[in-house]
Amino acid sequence: MGNSNPAEAAAPAAPKSSGFISKLTRALFIAAGITLWYATSERRKYSVPAVSKHCDHLSPITSAEFQTRQNSLARALNQLNASAYIAEPGASSLYYGNISTSNWGLSERPLLLVITPQQNGEEIGAKVSVLTPTFEASRAKMLPIVSNDVTFIEWAEEANPYEHALTILSGTPGSVYVDGATRNFIVDGLRDAHPQADVSSAPYEIRRLRERKSPAEIELLKCANEATVLSIRAVHEKMHVGIRESTASAMMRATLASAGLRDGGCLTLFGENAALPHGSGTDRTLGETRFRLTVALAESEIPEEHLQIWHDVRAAQNAAIDIAYAGVIAAEVDKAARSSLDNSKYFTHRLGHGIGLEVHEAPYLNGGSKSVLETGHAFSDEPGIYIEGKVGVRLEDCFYINETGPIFLTAGIGGQAKSPWSP
Ligand SMILES: *[C@@H]1O[C@H](CO)[C@@H](O)[C@H](O)[C@H]1NC(C)=O
Ligand SMILES: *[C@@H]1O[C@H](CO)[C@@H](O)[C@H](O)[C@H]1NC(C)=O
Ligand SMILES: *[C@@H]1O[C@H](CO)[C@@H](O)[C@H](O)[C@H]1NC(C)=O
Repeated sequence: MGNSNPAEAAAPAAPKSSGFISKLTRALFIAAGITLWYATSERRKYSVPAVSKHCDHLSPITSAEFQTRQNSLARALNQLNASAYIAEPGASSLYYGNISTSNWGLSERPLLLVITPQQNGEEIGAKVSVLTPTFEASRAKMLPIVSNDVTFIEWAEEANPYEHALTILSGTPGSVYVDGATRNFIVDGLRDAHPQADVSSAPYEIRRLRERKSPAEIELLKCANEATVLSIRAVHEKMHVGIRESTASAMMRATLASAGLRDGGCLTLFGENAALPHGSGTDRTLGETRFRLTVALAESEIPEEHLQIWHDVRAAQNAAIDIAYAGVIAAEVDKAARSSLDNSKYFTHRLGHGIGLEVHEAPYLNGGSKSVLETGHAFSDEPGIYIEGKVGVRLEDCFYINETGPIFLTAGIGGQAKSPWSP
């Protein structure tokens, strides 16, 4: 289901002359030092050499691939007779321009990535522009935007930014597509400033460009998935009866961090707590007969009834992936898992979601989804049974669709768990 834990350390205040403040500052420095020591020693204690080197061979998305993305977008816009595509900092601006919300936090002043198609000889290419507040223009020019030729369009504090956003277009703008995550006031501002333009959310012909993962993106997803499963296996070996949810969770975080997975997190729920799909907020210890959300300890004895649930959920997971070929409607995949569980009322959520630059992204595998599966789509396959006060079992593995059919992203390291004792 995904979970993230941004760990941001606040820097202690600079020392001041007052005795009390300087004592306080020293205490803060010592506290920060202890935290840092603890985090480092925790990472050393739980780091697993095989996991920590796992993704070293991969490189980030190249400039050439960014340019391919921009040109594909430009061609799609041209085919739709559209004048421009606009995105705020977020997953889509990261995809097309390498601008993320960690490079540029959202504020009330719009900074927009604007991509327009332009004729380059015989070919349609992309023109990349950025609308920026004038007083922030120098900072905007330091953004790691991938393009040989970015045009910066500045708007002064007293100006209407939306009037400026499309000044690079000659003539009246036709259709203007905005990324679906764009905030309403920006869409409204664009509409008001360009009444003749048709400003609307990007249609599927555009959205599918990001939804379908390239071979390089699949390699990155594969490695993140493999490192996660290897971390789960490593932590599983170190777990024991009596351990707390919070300790096991910290071990997972540290192991994931040693694998280079930033902001990694893992839901760690024991016993009845696992019956609440996203946890209860209590910090339970693991007992001999308690299941973690999906795995059991070597010494654990699992009641027969709970073991049966594990196997039923596994069967549902397989029923779904067995039919997840390109061309199939997403709702059918969800239905296959649900039918396998006799439409159990305890399977309370959708089967899965797309994975990529966002933890949860389109397309979704739910009973209402008319999306058609295409090669390059990557999903979670995560049926679950949650009987409140008793037990919860969810098995989650991610897969992608290639031309030969669906493939688990962890196929290279043995794929799905073999049993509750062998994740
Ligand atoms: C994308 O931005 C990141 C920093 O956020 C930078 O490290 C990386 O080199 C950039 N990618 C390209 C292809 O320039
Ligand atoms: C784009 O414009 C051309 C020429 O006017 C027209 O033939 C075509 O149907 C239009 N395409 C779309 C998707 O509107
Ligand atoms: C599809 O799967 C086959 C068999 O595993 C593999 O050889 C091929 O490279 C895959 N194609 C893509 C695009 O990942």
